[in-house]
Amino acid sequence: MELRFTQEQEETRRRSRQFAITEISPIVPWMERHEAFPGDLLRKMGPLGLLGLPIPKQWGGQGLDFIAYTAALNEISKVSAAVGVILSVHTSVGTLPILRYGNDEQRERYVRRLATGEALGAFALTEHGAGSDAASIRTTAVREDGHYVLNGTKLFITNAGAADVYVTFAVTDATRGPGGITAFIVDKESEGFQIGKSEKKMGLHGSNTCELHFDNVKIPVSQRIGGEGEGFSIAMGSLDGGRIGIGAQALGIAQAALELMLGHFPVKRSSAGKRPRKFAPEHAEIARLAAKTEAARLLVYRAAGLRQEGKPCTREASMAKMVASDTAVEAAGAAVRLLGMAGCLEQSPAERLFRDAKVTQIYEGTNEIHRIVISNQLLR
Ligand code: CAA
Repeated sequence: MELRFTQEQEETRRRSRQFAITEISPIVPWMERHEAFPGDLLRKMGPLGLLGLPIPKQWGGQGLDFIAYTAALNEISKVSAAVGVILSVHTSVGTLPILRYGNDEQRERYVRRLATGEALGAFALTEHGAGSDAASIRTTAVREDGHYVLNGTKLFITNAGAADVYVTFAVTDATRGPGGITAFIVDKESEGFQIGKSEKKMGLHGSNTCELHFDNVKIPVSQRIGGEGEGFSIAMGSLDGGRIGIGAQALGIAQAALELMLGHFPVKRSSAGKRPRKFAPEHAEIARLAAKTEAARLLVYRAAGLRQEGKPCTREASMAKMVASDTAVEAAGAAVRLLGMAGCLEQSPAERLFRDAKVTQIYEGTNEIHRIVISNQLLR
């Protein structure tokens, strides 16, 4: 089966690639050197519609499908995996949960601003001791009159500090396990809400990762997403889509690494200068990684297709994220190795890809967690 884009998907892919080359590529060295969030870039992305690709036009988005959005993420991540994750978190888990599980009032108030780039989104689930075991979060939300009072600390939150809107998960009934978790929309201006320590990371320089502190933060009942106790399902359902985005990001890293290797090892003439050197060991390694990258590409777009059709895609999203991230790490490692010292130099593209790839095996569920998700799906 050939993976063929519709005209609209292809046009989105092409425009995103063009944007990545002309607008993102020149600022990558600056982001790397200063580990600085690319605020000016995002202010350009909003008016171009890049921050609301899969959001219906009715709510300020571009009304494109999930495959087109995945293709855009993939192209942007080839040039900058940091911008890729900013976009993925903003859209997949910062905006889409409000669109999918929220009500019209919330869509009008939040989705519209997020889709147009007036606001940036984030997703606050992870806590100390509750990364992989997301159901054991301890941030509490206690209902009082017309609002909830949130207390607790979140950890490793992508886009934190830059984001205006935080899709946040807290426990409303500690006796009910996952069924006692509820989702809320938290505005950055909420009293008692504070951005905590900003983490320095080995890769993805330019993407923010911070703690969040909730100290008696009052959130109106009207900012609860769905009903009490529905939060864990909302988080997991949103992560199904988010993991496809991370798969597309990791795929972009693998593809960029392959391009680097191909650029470095064209089919060379033998030293005698007569015949092409056909069986260089580097070519065999590149061929092996090209096959893996192609497999990852098919998995990522298959999962995106299922998501687009509204079909269950938990297993396929996990497979796509797991295979694409493992391939990204392998391909980026091979790029550093095959390019030799040139690949080891600070701020060489291979070195950046190598540092950026690792976290794709870890966030939005470690690959160990994805093996559990896939086996649970297969065995049920
Ligand atoms: N869609 C909708 N609902 C789902 C679901 C899904 N994919 N998966 C589970 N649920 C719901 C179900 O209603 C289920 O109840 P039933 O028993 O009635 O089916 C309920 O949730 C509980 O499900 P589980 O028993 O499977 O839950 P669990 O406690 O065993 O946890 C887990 C499962 C898969 C390990 C989960 O904890 C998990 O995904 N962990 C990883 C967390 C993660 O990915 N964090 C990412 C943070 S965000 C991030 O990383 C962003 C970034 O920076 C890039």
